Parts: sequence; structure tokens; C-alpha cells
Amino acid sequence: MAKSYRSELVGVFGCPVDENPTIVMEEAAFKAKNLNWRYITMLVKPENLDAAFEALRALNFAGVNLTIPHKVEALKYVDGLSKKAELIGAINTIINRDGKLFGENTDGAGFVQGMQKQGLELRGKSIVVLGAGGASRAICVECALAGAGKLLILNRTLHKADEIAAVVKKNTPCEVKTAEWKGTAHIPPCDILINATSIGLFPDPGFPDIFYEDITPAMIVQDIIPNPAKTEFLKKAKERGAMTYDGLSMLVEQGAIGFKLWTGQDAPTEVMHSALAKEFE
Ligand code: ATR
Repeated sequence: MAKSYRSELVGVFGCPVDENPTIVMEEAAFKAKNLNWRYITMLVKPENLDAAFEALRALNFAGVNLTIPHKVEALKYVDGLSKKAELIGAINTIINRDGKLFGENTDGAGFVQGMQKQGLELRGKSIVVLGAGGASRAICVECALAGAGKLLILNRTLHKADEIAAVVKKNTPCEVKTAEWKGTAHIPPCDILINATSIGLFPDPGFPDIFYEDITPAMIVQDIIPNPAKTEFLKKAKERGAMTYDGLSMLVEQGAIGFKLWTGQDAPTEVMHSALAKEFE
């Protein structure tokens, strides 16, 4: 059989692309699967996003990830969108289907996929989410679409939590409440507690200001912070006897979803996990 010397290209558009570790796990995955694919980090200034999308088409990229600050602006340049990307109002993944660029949001899907892999059902569960930024929005929508029964969103800036709640209420039967997060917050009894704030991300050694005594062994506690994987938040939750899941594994699941969307193949998640863990060592 004739050998092909053409590489398939994917990558990430962003301004702080230097801080994006996705390249490490995706390149490791391509290598493990013996795929002649490349993942490239590209610095794209906001004023050049239009041209960058044209370049995607011209260079026949298989797709890209989008990071800060392009996740919302990029909606203008796609030919189609998934239902959940539409609800979230932001995209972080583009898939090139025969020249048509399709937008998807996998920011919350990594969490749902991680739970499913552990055999943990989200249907009917009551979930407390700390934070109301982009990651929280994606997670809240994903959880509601996956059938979560109740959502409570706590945020320092209440109106951001209210905006997410409005989207969830309008589009799903999930019962959703919000509360302003002032001082040390009490966590009501729930099945799952998620830190979706940026608190604890390296080099910040902090942890969310909550009453950790409220965490019980019956609760599942997830942090979205991938670096460090063992955050103070998770350490404290573990001390309370809760089952904990880290942000590193969640990021790997998210990367695995992108890998599958682009290549059509199942991702080698163990290889991706160790590549990323080594990077964050
Ligand atoms: P991302 O896109 O990663 O979610 P983001 O949109 O900047 O990032 O959101 C960060 C979240 O962490 C927000 O909910 C933010 O609270 P505000 O909406 O009030 O800004 C929350 N956050 C960050 N630092 C915080 C802190 N020290 N205390 C409480 N919340 C914090």
C-alpha cells in the first residue's frame, strides 16, 4: 500500500495558548494510536479570529479547540452547532466536516463522561456547584441535560449564577436555585459537590471558603482544577470521607471526547492521563 506523507492537523486557538497543556495529551494519544496527526497551539488575536477560521478551511484542518478569549466570539464563524453548545452559548471544539465547521462544547462533558465511566448515574441527583463562570455554565447545562434533579449554584457574583439558572430552567426540567456566596458558605445535603471556580489553580494554594464539616461520606466531590490534581479542596473533602474526583481526570475525559470527534477513534485515556500528570509534576 502506498504510504501517505500527509498529516491531519488539529490544534488550539487562543491568546494564552502557552498555558494550554492540551497539546501534551493529544500528541501522546496520536502517537499511541499510530496516527499521523499533529496538534498545534496557535496564538490568535481576537481581531484575527475571522481570518483564522478561513485558514482552518483553507488548510483543511480536521478541527481545533478554542480557549480564552475565543469561546463565545467563535460562534459567529461556525456553520452549525450542537444543541448543548447553543444552550451553553460558547464553544471550545470545532470539527471540520467536509469543509463545514461544526461547533461543540466539551467543557462539561468531561465531567459527565467521567461519572458515567465510574458507573455513577446523574439522573435525579442533587448537585451543588461552586462558581458561575464558563466552566460552571458548561457543567450545569450538561448535568441538567443528563437528568440531574436539583442544582444549587453558589457564586460571589449572584447575577452570573442567575443567568445560568435561567438557561437551565428554560430548557430542562431540573429544579435550579442560586445563592450569593458571601463569607464561609454552608453546603446543604446533596449527592454531588463540584468546585467549578478557579480557586486552587497553580500557583494559587487556596481552597473554596465553605464549611467542610458539611461534607459527608455519602457525597461525591469533584474539583475542576487539573493542576495540581490533589487540591486542598479535594484533600479536605477526602478527610471528611467523601469520594473525590480530580480535575486532571476530567480534563483527560474532555480531551478524549475531542479526540473521538476528530479521529473517529476511541482515545487512549491512560496514555493521555500519564502524559498530562507528568507535565504537571
Ligand atoms: P472559567 O471560564 O474557567 O470558569 P471564569 O469564567 O473566570 O473562569 O470563572 C471563574 C469562577 O470562579 C467565577 O465563578 C468566579 O466568581 P465571580 O463570578 O464572582 O468572579 C469564581 N472565583 C474566582 N476566584 C474566586 C474567589 N476568590 N472566591 C470566590 N469565587 C471565585
